Amino acid sequence: MSAPLFPAFLDLAGRRVLLVGGGVVARRKAEALLESGAEVVVGAPALVPELARAVAEGRLTHRAGPFSPDWLDGAWLVIAATDDAAVNARVAREAEARRIWANVVDDTPRCTFQVPARVERGPLQVAISSRGEAPMLARWLREQLETELDPTLGALAAWLGGKREALRQRFPDATRRRQVIEALIRGPAADALRSGDIDGAEHAFEAALAEDATPRGRVILVGAGPGDPGLLTLRGLRALNQADVVLHDRLVSREVLALARRDAEKIEVAKEAGTHHTTQQRIHELLIEHARAGKTVVRLKGGDPFVFGRGGEELQALRAAGIPYEVVPGITAALACGAYAGIPLTHREHAQSVRLVTAHCRNSIDTLDWIALAQERQTLAVYMGVQGLDTIRDRLLEHGRSPTTPFALVENGSRANQRVVLGTLAALPERAAAEQVRSPALLILGEVAALAKDLHWFGAPPSSPPVMLSPPAPTAATLTLAA
Ligand SMILES: C[S@@+](CC[C@H](N)C(=O)[O-])C[C@H]1O[C@@H](n2cnc3c(N)ncnc32)[C@H](O)[C@@H]1O
Repeated sequence: MSAPLFPAFLDLAGRRVLLVGGGVVARRKAEALLESGAEVVVGAPALVPELARAVAEGRLTHRAGPFSPDWLDGAWLVIAATDDAAVNARVAREAEARRIWANVVDDTPRCTFQVPARVERGPLQVAISSRGEAPMLARWLREQLETELDPTLGALAAWLGGKREALRQRFPDATRRRQVIEALIRGPAADALRSGDIDGAEHAFEAALAEDATPRGRVILVGAGPGDPGLLTLRGLRALNQADVVLHDRLVSREVLALARRDAEKIEVAKEAGTHHTTQQRIHELLIEHARAGKTVVRLKGGDPFVFGRGGEELQALRAAGIPYEVVPGITAALACGAYAGIPLTHREHAQSVRLVTAHCRNSIDTLDWIALAQERQTLAVYMGVQGLDTIRDRLLEHGRSPTTPFALVENGSRANQRVVLGTLAALPERAAAEQVRSPALLILGEVAALAKDLHWFGAPPSSPPVMLSPPAPTAATLTLAA
């Protein structure tokens, strides 16, 4: 696959653009170029009446006759819009030789720049490109945006443009300035402009100018969910858009990270076994340092920050340091894995409760209340248990849980590479080893796990259906692709 195009908006005002072709396609291109203030030269043997009129009115210059490379002299861009593919190809070749950006209408491979589909709201422009591969899709998306983007956005953009200098002077610190502008965009100024109330917007602006100019740091602890970006909450998304710094765990998926503000500094804070405590301490220090420097820090944690995520400790550290914070919950792995594996965790015919349990080291395994965990009619959702499956199986059997209790091991739950391994308690570690189940994986144990294969996939990631590995037949394991 070729590299993505680099998006850019060109200031063509007063700059020469050559348009080769004199038909209706060239006419449409000429209109758009003239709108952007370009000095347009149209080269063609003959022109449609509208173009001829524009030439007569002095808005365009006409170079008559067949294409000649010297037409390119002084041009910044060229658009080839003739109905002769050979002429268009020649224009593109000559432009390339002179390092002039060329667009050849309906001939993507010859283009060195493409004209995107656009949605405009005053000075605000949204440009959409499919790299020339699916122009219809880009156009469809443009239609969607046209209906979704508030028409008053243009007024807001123009109004903010008029305030830039005052804001720059009052808030010299760029981070603080961004915070104030964001508050204006999300707050009463935008609301007032939406209803045409200019006085109200000005009032909100005066109030903003009266605010403290020193940057205000804070930390937002955000649950990123288990991987599928569709499971991030709207508040989580908003926090990511405001972030100056994102401190994230390794478990956070690339797709979720991609939703963060582009300019945000992204720091992975993986915790290695053995250095856990020191590293956690370092995370606290980083959170506090960045917040004290006035940054909006998003601490992005897999699943929910307070479910086996050490979010509680981070919160205590922030409180002790007097740092303002917010917590945005996330969808924890147990809920997502249940949903994406088709397992209703508390189906009333099979389970009256669900327990979230962690079993990540021998110490934590030994302190679990096995008598309670071995009770029937309950579902266990075991986090971080991949390494201790043999102990989990042995302890549960010792304390009376039936060896035929069904389980589902959900690996990479909600992600495109999700796998579900099914079996019964007696063979739990052997099944996991045979299928090479790797972290992150969640063990769901209880009668409800048997329902996995009876339900439809109602929430699977769109890219590829998760793979379900059923209990092995006596001779060989069966592999069933979920519907
Ligand atoms: C440190 S805990 C963090 C749990 C997280 N705070 C949550 O609420 O889901 C990490 C464990 O969560 C489980 N886990 C997290 N994401 C998962 C996923 N996408 N699929 C399966 N298990 C997952 C695994 O058991 C993993 O070892």
